[in-house]
Amino acid sequence: MLLQKRLVLKISKTLISQEEIENKISEIAEIINSKYKEEELVVIGILKGAFIVVSDLAKQLQIDVTFDFMSIKSYYGSESSGQIKIIKDLEYDISNKNILIVEDIYDTGLTLSSLKKLLESRNPKSIEIFSMFVKKGVSKDPIEIDYSGFEIGPEFVVGYGLDYNGKYRELPYLAVLS
Ligand code: IMP
Ligand code: MG
Repeated sequence: MLLQKRLVLKISKTLISQEEIENKISEIAEIINSKYKEEELVVIGILKGAFIVVSDLAKQLQIDVTFDFMSIKSYYGSESSGQIKIIKDLEYDISNKNILIVEDIYDTGLTLSSLKKLLESRNPKSIEIFSMFVKKGVSKDPIEIDYSGFEIGPEFVVGYGLDYNGKYRELPYLAVLS
């Protein structure tokens, strides 16, 4: 039944396999484990898309870490910088904390650059960004991504947290719709 529904909605091809994703998460977790070996870290997942990457990463962290989540909506106006509205704010005070923002995908960069400015104003000790997927060449508001999982083309992708009208987030791989 589920399979039929998916076929109707046409997943055309797997772009990045489950195995490739698992290997990449391990690789990045290892870097984060070594970087924050002696420092406390607050991982901030951006809902909803980042819920899968945060949980996969979490299981491989061996450091002093806490998790918090934010839900934001981006508005793209005619101006070059995006506006974000907080739907759900953090629970913790991040002042003087090392934070790692975890996002599903970096597309135009507007969401992450506005979010970074917002969180910087709360005076954390440090901010790093991990985006699981980065769309090549479409960035309008480039900011530094400290850890990027995979660079992909401009096509619309789903799976591993990413949705199309709320669907497909549960796929354990990244796929292209046609
Ligand atoms: P941007 O970097 O501000 O353009 O926005 C990034 C957000 O747009 C991500 O957090 C996703 O929610 C969404 N997004 C961008 N590209 C895709 C895609 O290919 N599939 C699904 N969601 C996407
Ligand atoms: Mg998102």
